[in-house]
Amino acid sequence: MKTYYLEEINSTNSYCKENIETYSDKTIIYTFHQTNGRGRFNRTWTEIGKDNLYMSIILKPSDKYKQVYANITQYTCLKLAEIIKTYTTNVEIKWPNDILVNKKKISGILAEAVYKNEKLKGLVIGVGINLNSEKSTLEKINQPATSLNLETGKFVDKQNFLSEFGKQYFNTYDKFIENGFISIKDDYLKYCKFLNTTVKIQENNGEKTVGKAKEVTDDGAIIINGKKYYSGDILISN
Ligand code: BTN
Repeated sequence: MKTYYLEEINSTNSYCKENIETYSDKTIIYTFHQTNGRGRFNRTWTEIGKDNLYMSIILKPSDKYKQVYANITQYTCLKLAEIIKTYTTNVEIKWPNDILVNKKKISGILAEAVYKNEKLKGLVIGVGINLNSEKSTLEKINQPATSLNLETGKFVDKQNFLSEFGKQYFNTYDKFIENGFISIKDDYLKYCKFLNTTVKIQENNGEKTVGKAKEVTDDGAIIINGKKYYSGDILISN
């Protein structure tokens, strides 16, 4: 694993996509100052102060897309949930891309694939994580949000968090790529508090469905009203 620090960048994901050929597999590019952070569905990822972490993981597992790559977001969620749990309790994964603590968002993931001439150049897994922030700043975000320092009452060392995360992430990454979602499913399910609750899911085309989230399948989809969902956004869960 290699890590590179950028003092300021518009978006670590945009930067990694543009410069993917410069970097090797298993590289983490991070910054504490992102001027145009991007979220899913063309949302912005608001910068909430210099003591938070914005990073992108560059992965180059092969030049052809494999099914397991669709589950890398879930793998990343699990690794984040595990490390956050070493700091605080009530950590959960909001399928498929978010981590919540006490029902408030603490981290979000934006996974993007980069192609050139129909060849997969790599995957860019962007992670924004609220490590240290003021309550008043978080209240300006348009959804319930929290940060690790607010949950623990302690300042979180960004470099420590990053190096621990990187270590844990790549400790099991090769095994995951080889064996797929099924190999992390049991651990993943421990953080899925939305199971057996009623959720409203929005598909990427905007269509919304309400129903009980019955199970996570062996390939990482969720089943609602008998239908398998591989992507989308859970809007409510109770
Ligand atoms: C989401 O919750 O919608 C995903 C947010 C992802 C934000 C991170 S911050 C680092 C990386 N660079 C970006 O522009 N976005 C991701």
